Amino acid sequence: MPQTIFSADLTRSNVNLFLTSGIMHHPPKTYFIRTYGCQMNELDTEVMAGQLQKRGIVPTDQEESADLLIFNTCSIRDLAERKVMGKLGQLGRRKKRGLIGVTGCMAMAKKEALFRKFPHLDFVLGTNNISDLGTVLDEVLYTQKQVFKTEDVYEENLDYLAAKREHSIKAHVSIIRGCDKFCTYCVVPYTRGQEVSRSAQDIIEECKQLTDRGYKEITLLGQNVNSYGKDRPEWQCLFHDLLAQIDQIPGIGRIRFMTSHPIDITYELMQAIRDLPSLCEFVHFPIQAGSSRILKKMHRIYTKEQYLDKVTLLRKTVPNISLGTDIIVGFPTETESEFEETYELMNQIRYSVAFIYAYSARKGTPAMRWKDDVPEEIKETRLQKLLELQDKIAKEERGSFLGHTVEVLVERLNKDQIHLKGRTRCWKKVIFKGPSSLVGTLQTVLIEGSSHQTLVGNLHQM
Ligand code: SAH
Ligand code: SF4
Ligand code: F3S
Repeated sequence: MPQTIFSADLTRSNVNLFLTSGIMHHPPKTYFIRTYGCQMNELDTEVMAGQLQKRGIVPTDQEESADLLIFNTCSIRDLAERKVMGKLGQLGRRKKRGLIGVTGCMAMAKKEALFRKFPHLDFVLGTNNISDLGTVLDEVLYTQKQVFKTEDVYEENLDYLAAKREHSIKAHVSIIRGCDKFCTYCVVPYTRGQEVSRSAQDIIEECKQLTDRGYKEITLLGQNVNSYGKDRPEWQCLFHDLLAQIDQIPGIGRIRFMTSHPIDITYELMQAIRDLPSLCEFVHFPIQAGSSRILKKMHRIYTKEQYLDKVTLLRKTVPNISLGTDIIVGFPTETESEFEETYELMNQIRYSVAFIYAYSARKGTPAMRWKDDVPEEIKETRLQKLLELQDKIAKEERGSFLGHTVEVLVERLNKDQIHLKGRTRCWKKVIFKGPSSLVGTLQTVLIEGSSHQTLVGNLHQM
């Protein structure tokens, strides 16, 4: 069993060392990062990639033979963790392997316990220590020991500008990290820490640079973007104020945001969506459950009626708005009739997009104190019912686009190499035939059909 070594190095670099993982490691020349989970992790991967490339380590698409393999992990549901655990277990059985690191939410949820389960793991780096990646790598190489750094305090000086972006048309920009909502089922407040807003100046600078580099769409990211600025009242800059400033950037393309908590969706935000030309007419407005009793048990801090009132106001303010949601079925004690309330609510609201999950009990969350008493087969049946309903609603919605024109931001050539692929302002996927020179431009497309969740059309001739 590994044991902690308290050495002079520990105080100097403020990292924690464990005994060696058994293989002599040399400075890596190539890296591969496997990313799980949400957009925050995707962005963190891009930031880590930027740091590694600055050190001359180059990306490879050969996961098996990379000198440095990083798993940027997610803890949101049991399955997300099991996938990574399986992979890590397999790697331990290999005689020859490069450096292996775990970053992301599992690093925060499990910390150094990961070394006990996976003695061949070289480092564990938390979600608030991304800028320490280089130091931690150096420490592993210098000491040939296992190293972990998983602090709870948010790092102020993370260099987002050095991120190596996956796309050249659309980019993610972090505006707030962490979550203070503490929904009873959710690990995020423990794996990402407290809400910390990033200064408007830094955000705007990053958006300007991206715009100057030709990016056409920016998604503002946070676990709860619309509580932006509440932790810094002295800034007098709430989410809608920030949006108004970003909208003013010369040449700015489309702006989106992900994700929002219904309680913080204000009338000012609805007005911003109505009035700011760059802001797209799509809001992820996650209800989670249709019964007020379950919502209370989830600590969502709104009732079904309050939620519905907000949706009504939003639809009145922005008539062409599209809505997305997240739903959890089988939360502890959820009855059949409470599930029916969720079904009815989805039928009533008719979301454009719904991410539907079966409840998964997570260690360390308040919901663990309740028995996970909805049998797995019932969770599965409820999940399937909602998926079928959503499929039907989405199909009908796609039908309603027939014969209409939409504005599409062309993102890339489609996999079939014949069509171009992009999205409407309301986040619908569209494919249509056209030359690849149109990638990165806005086009008007006449919708003539649909296939596999995607609208199919033709360039509209004016
Ligand atoms: N901050 C975002 C959600 C982040 S997690 C928000 O509040 O909207 C993404 C989704 O995963 C959640 O909205 C929820 O639907 C789901 N989720 C979170 N914890 C879960 C759990 N323990 N079991 C099942 N689904 C969960
Ligand atoms: Fe999790 Fe709730 Fe925070 Fe979303 S708002 S990240 S579901 S605790
Ligand atoms: Fe997963 Fe962490 Fe995101 S738990 S969903 S990667 S914030």
